Amino acid sequence: MTNPRVHEIATAMLDAVRKVLVQQEVTEAEYRAGVMYMMQVAEAKEMGLLCDVFLNSTIVEIKAAATRGSAPAIQGPYFKEEAPFVDGKLKTYDSDDHKPLLLHGSVKDEAGRVVTDAVIDIWHSTPDGRYSGFGGYHGDMPVDYYRGKVRTDAQGRWRVQTTLPAPYQIPNKGPTGALLTMMGSHTWRPAHVHFKVRKDGFEALTTQYYFEGGEWVDSDCCNGVKPELVMPAAMEQGMQAMALDFVIEKSRA
Ligand SMILES: [Fe+2]
Repeated sequence: MTNPRVHEIATAMLDAVRKVLVQQEVTEAEYRAGVMYMMQVAEAKEMGLLCDVFLNSTIVEIKAAATRGSAPAIQGPYFKEEAPFVDGKLKTYDSDDHKPLLLHGSVKDEAGRVVTDAVIDIWHSTPDGRYSGFGGYHGDMPVDYYRGKVRTDAQGRWRVQTTLPAPYQIPNKGPTGALLTMMGSHTWRPAHVHFKVRKDGFEALTTQYYFEGGEWVDSDCCNGVKPELVMPAAMEQGMQAMALDFVIEKSRA
């Protein structure tokens, strides 16, 4: 059965690709190498990674253009729905290189009214760039480390203490990393903290914030950094701090 939306998008995508093939005078050998590359991507199970690295930020931009709320950002692969509610502090490991980070702010709607009882998921890497709950390269950290949920209070405010995350590399041993290298790029993401803000009756806000002056902020391999998501360094109570006032918009449905 014809699907008009698929027909429209697939036809436009193929037209765009064909134009590039012609413009670049791509040879039979280059075409075959490209096909072989896509087969390697599939074999390495990196199709999701490849698409997310190069295209997810564009999908986010489409969403950003239509929202009256705070700027969204890519979710990335390390969100865990089962992260527990925490009481003011994320679980972290004790280590000399752990520097405290205070995160706090508010949630309001697009008319500036406070939003109480909004649930904010917060997740970020360890000081050595790993995420809990994934095993393998990330180690055997339980899922309740470096992530958790907080709720806004009667004034729409929230607050949590944790440790500073670090820049990390996306999986770089496979064909996605190889392509980035051949393109003269790299596989690093700047240090960041992820947020997902949810409340019944509102559009969910998925975003992430970066640290001004941080390594790779100017050349994120996932192209996910926007000026409004880069926060200046601030100190509060002897800790590095980030103050974030989220705006979420009423559901359109
Ligand atoms: Fe991340």
